[in-house]
Parts: sequence; C-alpha cells; structure tokens
Amino acid sequence: MTKPEDPAGMRKGLTNYGDAGFSLFLRKAFIKGAGLTDHALDRPVIGITDTGSGYNPCHGNMPQLVEAVQRGIMLAGGLPVKFPTISIGESFAAPTSMYLRNLMSMDTEEMLRAQPMDAVVMIGGCDKTVPAQLMGAASAGLPAVQLITGSMLTGSHRGETVGACTDCRRYWAKFRADEIDQQEIDDVNNQLVPSIGTCSVMGTASTMACIAEALGMTVPGGASPPAVTSARMRVAEQTGAVAVQIAKSRLTIDKILTEKAFENAMRVLLAIGGSTNAIVHLTAIAGRCGFDVDLKALDRMGRETPVLLDLKPSGQHYMEHFDAAGGMATLLRELKPLLHLDALTVTGRTLGEELERASPPFKQDVVRSRDNPIYREGGIAVLQGNLAPGGAIIKQSAADPKLMEHEGRAVVFEGLQDLATRIDSDDLDVKADDILVLKNIGPKGAPGMPEAGYIPLPRKLARQGVKDMVRISDGRMSGTAFGTIVLHVTPESAIGGPLAHVKNGDRIRLSVKNREISLLVSGEELARRAQAQPVQVPTAARGYRKLFLTTVTQADQGVDFDFLASPEKKGTIPRT
Ligand code: FES
Repeated sequence: MTKPEDPAGMRKGLTNYGDAGFSLFLRKAFIKGAGLTDHALDRPVIGITDTGSGYNPCHGNMPQLVEAVQRGIMLAGGLPVKFPTISIGESFAAPTSMYLRNLMSMDTEEMLRAQPMDAVVMIGGCDKTVPAQLMGAASAGLPAVQLITGSMLTGSHRGETVGACTDCRRYWAKFRADEIDQQEIDDVNNQLVPSIGTCSVMGTASTMACIAEALGMTVPGGASPPAVTSARMRVAEQTGAVAVQIAKSRLTIDKILTEKAFENAMRVLLAIGGSTNAIVHLTAIAGRCGFDVDLKALDRMGRETPVLLDLKPSGQHYMEHFDAAGGMATLLRELKPLLHLDALTVTGRTLGEELERASPPFKQDVVRSRDNPIYREGGIAVLQGNLAPGGAIIKQSAADPKLMEHEGRAVVFEGLQDLATRIDSDDLDVKADDILVLKNIGPKGAPGMPEAGYIPLPRKLARQGVKDMVRISDGRMSGTAFGTIVLHVTPESAIGGPLAHVKNGDRIRLSVKNREISLLVSGEELARRAQAQPVQVPTAARGYRKLFLTTVTQADQGVDFDFLASPEKKGTIPRT
C-alpha cells in the first residue's frame, strides 16, 4: 500500500488546483479518457521519453524501441506512458547541436519532474541526446535508465567497408584534394549511412553509449547492439523490465551516478579512444551531481590507461564488430584491475557482479589486451600553457605521431566566416609545417562550440599531398575525426582568452609529451595587444540565445548553464 506521505504513480506531483482530491479525480478522469482502467493506474508508472523525429535518422528505430520497452514494462507489472521531448539530430541542428544540448536537458529534467512517473526510460542515441538526458535525469533525481538507439550498419564502397563518419571526412578530404571525382563522391554518399542508427565508428554517440553503460545507467550489454538488430530490441525489452524494478526499489539516479561510476566512465573513455566531446559531456553530467572534474587528474589517469578498442578513428573496426566481439563486457573484463567493481548499476547489482554474469570470453580481435594495446596511453591528453591557461585537449590516439612534438608559425583565422573565405585561396600564405589557428568557435564565440575544430587543410596543400597539420581552436571536433588537432582551448577567444590575441606569424609550440601548448610571445606583448584591441564579448537581445550567452560556462565546466549545476558540492573527480 502506498502511504499518503509517499505518493506514487498517478498520485505523484499533482497539478495545483487548491484541492488535492479534486486534482487526482481530474487527472484520473482524463487518463481514463485514453481508455485506461483503475487496475492499470494502480501499477508503477514508467515514463518513456520518445525522441523520434523526422530530423533524426539516428533515432529511426524509435517506434520499435518504444514498443519493446512498453512490452518489458507490461511484462514486469508496470504501466508505460510515452511522452515526447526535444530530439537533436547532429547534422540537422544549426548553428550546432551543442547549442541545444542544455535546452534538451532542461526539457528532459522538467518533464520528468512535472509529470507523474515512478521511473523513466530515456531513449537517446545521437551525439547530444544521451548527455542531455543524463544531465536532465541527474537533476530531476528519479529512478532512471538509459536506452541507446544503437549504431547504424556499415556500408560497402567499391569493395571497401565504410561507415559514418570517419570515412565521410576521409572521402571528402580526397574529393577536396582532387583525388576522387564527382561520380565517386556521389557513390560513396549512398554507402556511408546504410541504415538508421547512430554513427558506426567511435564518435560521440558510440562513446556516450559506452559511457552510459560504464556509468551503470544501461542494462548490461546496452551500449553496442546495432539499431536494426533483434539484440537491440531485446535490450529495449529488458530496459523496460529494469525500469519497473528500479521504480519499486526506489533506486534513484544519485545512487548510480557516484564518484566511482564517473571514474569508471573516465577509464572507459580513455580506453576506447573515445570522442573528445565526451569530456565536456561527462563534466556537465558530473556537475549536475555535484562533482567537479580535475582535468590534470584525468590526464594522469590517461597515462596509465591504454587504448584497447580497435575502432575507427583510432583503429580499424566499427561498432557492429565491437558488438560481435562481446561489446562492453569484453572491454570491461580487460580493464577490471582499473575499475571500481563495486559501483552499483541500474540492475541493482554491481558492475563486478554483472561481469561475473556475462557470457564467457572468447577469441576476438577488436578489444586488445592491456599488454598489446592500440595505443599505450589513454586516447585523450590534456594540454596546458600560456595559450590555454584553463587547459586544452588533443586526441593523441587519432593524431599524426610526427606532429605531436612540433613548433610552427601561426596562420590565423578570426572566425568561421574568415576561414570559409580564405582557406582555399591560392594566395593564402601557408606551408605544410605551419599551425592553423581558428578563433571564436568556443561556447560563446560561435555560439555553441561547434565541431569546426577539424579545420580543413588548405586546398593548395591538400593537392600537394599534405594529410595532416597541427590545428588549434577553442571549438570541438567530431569524435569521428582524425588529425593533430588541439581543441577546447580555455578560456575561449570570444571572452578574451589568450587565443584572441594570436597573430599571423607568431610561433606556437605543441609538445604532447610535456602536455604543453605555448604561444611563444611574451606576457607584456599579449597584454599590449589586449589593450590595443579589446574583445567584444557576444551578446543577444532576447530569447534562448540571450540565456545561452549570459549563462553558458567554459569547456572545463562542461559548457552547461551556470544555474543548472548542482549547488551541493560533493568533491572533485577523478580522485587519483
Ligand atoms: Fe547522429 Fe552521428 S549523426 S550519431
């Protein structure tokens, strides 16, 4: 029996009419209007976020997933109630999906809070959706379980396996360099996304799927089955059943998202050669739970966490191959000595207990052993120096080793428009050993910190066969990209960070070995430049853009809105 002081199901969060009895009476009358009986309304109510959208093919299996989740909920004795929230499709959102992540998190949080539900299944997949849902759920505080939509299949182009989006960029670079013709670029365009689902390499979507499982927020094995498989539908059914279980046991999200869970997720991020975006997302999710992320400690963790997963862009394979190799159980088993095995998961069992229950290991070539890694350190390194006093990052596992210790002349672009105007000009004064610098693509600069940090190589150098250059910006890049690319320079140029004052011809030094990114210009000269050309911080007159520009934090704070982080501070992670 539910106690009056402990409302559940449809009795939760009554609408304010000044008469609680009437509020419940009215609510039941309306939901009965949808054909539900009193018997159904006595069950635990499980909300399901439906993030299907014609603008989001990565969520193209949403109707089937919702059906399977509903089945799982019903079989376990719950009442499923589906409701919509914002959906963000990566390549359909302007100026960038990141601009909308916090809005989706607020939508998710407030709908979880406003509507009566005892637990929620959040269905997400495309890059910003899973972070937004975890951020929102962490703030709402309900029992919650994450369901991933699943990756797309791979395609085949003239005998070669291809998939979004590492191969999208690779083929586009070949086209820009006149290595392939219009016919071929049109042909490959038909093969890169051969099914619905999320990008098939270790981009942000796959990274966040693995992180969600490492956090204990999905059912075991929830990260890797492709979107169109029966395995993905079984995961969905299981997820529905787990949601009923956590509703009954009141296993709220704060019991799952602990410092141990975040440290496990960081290990996994480093060991999968995961997307750099995930650092920003993990920082934001942790911030909602009251944890600050110490980037230097994360870097120390990286020095003792090898990349084990042989997936593009750091390796060779695709998500469907990771799934066939046993998925996260295979990876987590290999990482066991580095993990907190006592971290709790949504099943009510610990990560270690789930690993004991997983199918036995078998011979496979996608997850390497720790003594034979893809890369001897974690995929991401944190850089520091006078160009980035608040830090910057580089995905070292997807960079050219020859460029990781490099000093060169800066070739500066003031923003995206300047880049578009000049990058392909034959008159551009640029050589292969120069360093390309792009300003004003940080959180406030663009705004929304777009994935424009993968600065295209100047066409005239691409035609000469140049494949990589050191590139530096305050923006992000897609997790699917490859190159020696320094990102997330903090503080950003749009608020007057040192990046704002870099000039053409300045010397810059990158040393990944020493974790250094330095502008070889004196502090006095930088101060003189700042005074001569003060930065105008972007503003907006109204609306969401005003909220965004007024409250968005820097990359090291997760690019969350400052008022959304938890006011209660629990500590700093990782605690190495
Ligand atoms: Fe949606 Fe890549 S575009 S996951």
